[in-house]
Amino acid sequence: MRIDFHSHILPGMDDGASDINESLAMLKMLSESKVDKVILTPHFYRQNEKIDSFLKRREAAFEKLSAAAGEVCGCPELLLGAEVYFYPSLSSDPDFHKLCIENTGYILLELPFEQFHDNFYSSYSKFSNNCEQKIIFAHIERYLSFGNTPHDIMKIFEYGNALCQMNCSSPVEASLLKKKTMLRFISDGLISAVGTDAHNTSRRPPMYGKAEKLIVSKCGQRAFDNVCRRSEMILEDRSLREIIQTNI
Ligand SMILES: [Fe+2]
Repeated sequence: MRIDFHSHILPGMDDGASDINESLAMLKMLSESKVDKVILTPHFYRQNEKIDSFLKRREAAFEKLSAAAGEVCGCPELLLGAEVYFYPSLSSDPDFHKLCIENTGYILLELPFEQFHDNFYSSYSKFSNNCEQKIIFAHIERYLSFGNTPHDIMKIFEYGNALCQMNCSSPVEASLLKKKTMLRFISDGLISAVGTDAHNTSRRPPMYGKAEKLIVSKCGQRAFDNVCRRSEMILEDRSLREIIQTNI
């Protein structure tokens, strides 16, 4: 099953689809790539908004999109989630669990775009200790910028198990070094979900199909199927351990 785990398709919700027509055009592109399910993950920034207010806006945008989605032939199933920007005290908020991907205990977490120094690791450690939810790091390849090495990234896992999501644009468009690193991560079974992180139909379009072809050609069909199976298991709310150990 093909699942787009990261998208900004809800109309007028963030810096993604600006209106319902753009949302529908993006869904059509996903349908052409034979994507079965898409998780709608608008940005959530606690420094700008309370959880309740975000959820109300998300619900309204979701209702609008659901009502129109029937126009798209073969439209993927729409599921709700959020791309939650790291905010140190957020995991202590009693409403934090409401940001989980639909019917699961998994949070898609976006880390700061900076070099990971001791103060970040310390603040992430506190966040992780207070967190009852399971974490998926959004677009893990993104943090290879800002002077972070693969080792700096792997260090985050010392504070508790988490899963990794990779953007489809990474194996297709990233620099050679980043591309090679991410393809190695896939071959090594470190990626549990891929997502288009699509924001529109032009500059940041859904490119699931291109990514699938490239992953299959470089890492093999089995590696891609493993990612798909792990993604299904996230939606089944299976344990981190079961998902990490999956190898079909
Ligand atoms: Fe995103």
